Amino acid sequence: MRILSGVQPSGRPHLGNFFGAMRQFVSLQNEGEALYFIADLHALTSVRDGRELSQSSRDVALDYLALGLDPKKAVLFLQSAVPEVTELFWYLTALTPMGLLERGHSYKDKVARGIAADAGLFTYPVLMAADILLYGSDLVPVGKDQVQHLEMTRDIAVKFNAAFVPGYDPADPEGAKSGKPGILKLPKAYVQEGAAASVPGVDGQKMSKSYGNTIELVADDAATKKRIMGIKSDSTPMESPKDPESTPIFALLSLFASDTERAEIEESFRTGGKGYGHYKQRLHELFMETLGPARERRRRLTEDPAYLDDVLAAGAKKAREIAAPVMDAVRHAVGTGRRTG
Ligand code: ADP
Ligand code: TRP
Repeated sequence: MRILSGVQPSGRPHLGNFFGAMRQFVSLQNEGEALYFIADLHALTSVRDGRELSQSSRDVALDYLALGLDPKKAVLFLQSAVPEVTELFWYLTALTPMGLLERGHSYKDKVARGIAADAGLFTYPVLMAADILLYGSDLVPVGKDQVQHLEMTRDIAVKFNAAFVPGYDPADPEGAKSGKPGILKLPKAYVQEGAAASVPGVDGQKMSKSYGNTIELVADDAATKKRIMGIKSDSTPMESPKDPESTPIFALLSLFASDTERAEIEESFRTGGKGYGHYKQRLHELFMETLGPARERRRRLTEDPAYLDDVLAAGAKKAREIAAPVMDAVRHAVGTGRRTG
């Protein structure tokens, strides 16, 4: 099974990213052949500073390595290091209906907010389809917000197969009956459900870079502590019972604590007798226990830029090998491939 996902290189990763995405990516490296790439080409729809793009792409790659992504198991690379993806993007663009893209949420939202959209934002889903289809991906772990993009990817793959694969039947898109699955394999989205679907930030809203309420994974120790001790809470006195829902502290603690400890903490909230500061201290301890080793690895990785260069170069080479037969078949089908005989 081939597992693939892309990560936008934007900003410092936070607890929401960790529990909502990064942790699953790392553990999925044991479930199949995993390919993860830094979506630097996609980031160009918003970043207009080359130095910043290059730096943040490397930072995200280092974050994943620090969190346990093992380059011996998973393939880690930069999207831009596989130029075939932009070639496939064009073949797909050529047959993607405008209407399909006009229904895209991110494009529609931007237009609704009165922001002028660039063609890159409009065709963002086609590049994403190319990312996925280029490697014959089976499973694509993503957040809920990306599910529509996966549906578009499947639609685009069916369009391509229907146009270029003789005998392909769009009513039987995986080729189960016809035995003709097409050149481009239809992927499935894999959406993580449950508690980690929405990690709250220090103010109780969903944790997000754009709300400035994040707890970063690898900030320096003093800043991390300050952030955790500053989580929003009310003025309920120490001895009074407390509603675990009234502050994000309990939800955040629940992400780290064992089931037993979680139950004890909930009980203790409801009984009263302890101040919010006490719970924040415990959250800080658990945060450090869980992320301390990754933070230390991150510091060491930063000191060895050549290691990251090697990992990314090997990843890109492997990714291009996987892409090669798909691209051969695609070029041959559309008529740009070299013909023999
Ligand atoms: P941000 O909102 O900070 O810009 P991104 O959109 O870059 O975060 O999110 C990257 C990944 O992390 C997505 O897959 C998303 O589902 C996950 N994620 C982000 N914030 C949270 C959160 N608060 N709770 C759970 N998952 C999150
Ligand atoms: N659009 C995704 C996001 O913003 C990132 C991404 C780009 C991606 N290409 C992909 C995710 C291919 C999965 C597969 O999170």
